[in-house]
Amino acid sequence: MELKIDSKDIDFHQLIEYSLNSIWIVEQEGNIRYCNKACLKLLNITSSKDILYQNLYSFLPPDFHAVSKERLKRVIEKQEIVELLEQEMIRGDGEIVDIEVMAAPFYLEGKVLAQVIIQDITQRKMAEKLLTDREKLVSIGQIATGIAHEVKNPLTAVKGFLQLLKESKFHPYLDMMESELEKALATLQNLLQVSKPDLHEESLVPIDLCQELESLLFLFQERLYNVKLEMDLRDSERKIIGKRNLFLKAFFNLIKNAIEAIQDTGKIKIEHYYQNEWIHIKVSDTGVGIPEDKVKMLGTPFFSTKSEGTGLGLTQVFTTIHKHGGNISVHSTIGKGTTFHIQLPVR
Ligand SMILES: Nc1ncnc2c1ncn2[C@@H]1O[C@H](COP(=O)(O)OP(=O)(O)OP(=O)(O)O)[C@@H](O)[C@H]1O
Ligand SMILES: [Mg+2]
Repeated sequence: MELKIDSKDIDFHQLIEYSLNSIWIVEQEGNIRYCNKACLKLLNITSSKDILYQNLYSFLPPDFHAVSKERLKRVIEKQEIVELLEQEMIRGDGEIVDIEVMAAPFYLEGKVLAQVIIQDITQRKMAEKLLTDREKLVSIGQIATGIAHEVKNPLTAVKGFLQLLKESKFHPYLDMMESELEKALATLQNLLQVSKPDLHEESLVPIDLCQELESLLFLFQERLYNVKLEMDLRDSERKIIGKRNLFLKAFFNLIKNAIEAIQDTGKIKIEHYYQNEWIHIKVSDTGVGIPEDKVKMLGTPFFSTKSEGTGLGLTQVFTTIHKHGGNISVHSTIGKGTTFHIQLPVR
């Protein structure tokens, strides 16, 4: 027999209790009279006893008090539905989360309360930030490449005239001028190569990253004297398709950074494994770490904290990974070390 459900028979409490959105019922002064399971999860609180009769404002940063008061007033006094608003919330453990809130009147025993519906948008915010960071990176890269092109031509002309000058006249400064000019041209060439890796057309081939990683490490043998190396290369039968030289250069840059981050002794770990249709590669070091405010600068051309660094290594890494449809993330703790986590699609 077909089951017919009349809306008046539905126990709405059950629906609300397990809703993915956090739902609160609050009084005008902000006292919380009800909250569902999602709300406890959002606030990282285990028991609803810890939240009932508490004040809504104790979970809101002070910047949002005035606007929330005004909105609650509209809901309860004018019985309006207030539109979605992005704001922040303080969880039980003190952490700030990004949320989106709307509110509507809720009638109970002749009284008007407000039902507040909250959505956790932390993940969305993070994705948006990643996207804008990436866009910023791309546009800075484009500007840098444009300038490099413009500057390279006149410098090449100067180099030509300098050579002519050297043939007709001797001056002790001329050789110095030439070698400084060479350095400038090499930097520009490097920048053009890393920010526009397609310039040197390379064909796409299947790449056995495990094998490449192992042979790359040979190049660093001398530098690995005080550094313990741990390799955990699994699922080597999974291959990616891409430009081999770009990847070699990218992993070279990552390993070089890891070694340079270790001041006396330390450890570098390289992992390779397959999970959820992605190849994961992690390059971790126990080096100096990267301050939180500098992490967002990584990959920006010429960002370097090293006296001899050009700041192009990670630009090359980021462009190579992104051009191959991959992702890269960085986790770092000052004084403890850094992990670069790369995900690449298997083709
Ligand atoms: N593993 C790491 N540990 C700590 N800091 C790092 C690490 N990798 C990168 N960094 C920081 O990021 C900056 C930029 O790195 P990037 O490789 O782009 O340039 P660089 O190493 O300074 O110069 P180069 O062009 O020679 O590679 C570094 O100067 C350093 O401050
Ligand atoms: Mg580097």
